[in-house]
Amino acid sequence: MGAECNCNCQSEMDKKVDALITENRGNPNNLIVVMAGIQEALGYLPQDVMIRVAEELNVPLTDVYGVATFYAAFTLRPRGRHSINLCLGTACYVKGAPEVQAAIEKELNIKAGDTTEDRRFTFDVVRCLGACGIAPVMTINGEVHPRVTPDKVADVLAKYE
Ligand code: FES
Repeated sequence: MGAECNCNCQSEMDKKVDALITENRGNPNNLIVVMAGIQEALGYLPQDVMIRVAEELNVPLTDVYGVATFYAAFTLRPRGRHSINLCLGTACYVKGAPEVQAAIEKELNIKAGDTTEDRRFTFDVVRCLGACGIAPVMTINGEVHPRVTPDKVADVLAKYE
């Protein structure tokens, strides 16, 4: 576990979010701009902030969630510092990707689609990454890891603080 953060970063981020919402109060046309700004400041769109956005910009909450789930750039859950994408496309699947998935889930103690409690990793499964010749393939922050096997998983993950 890391040490407690004593800096002001959280309140700075909250101030940015406050300012964005205040500037756009009563202006539903700026919904996406406000949501993009919040996502940039906080890294995700927390539920309480989305409720506030709906109230203050005068937009139905269902529309706010509609936008949040429609655009892939938005996420409603906090993400980790490192993004793991494991390919489960056909070539990777037959070369053992499901076993790699199980090893990652065991190592991180999370399921695909989740983020570790310490926000170190977010783990997602994806379809063909277009690199079937080096299956099974996993990327971490876009860096390609070819021919991954369950026993390589711990070593690969250890490289990412
Ligand atoms: S199936 Fe995994 S890269 Fe194509």
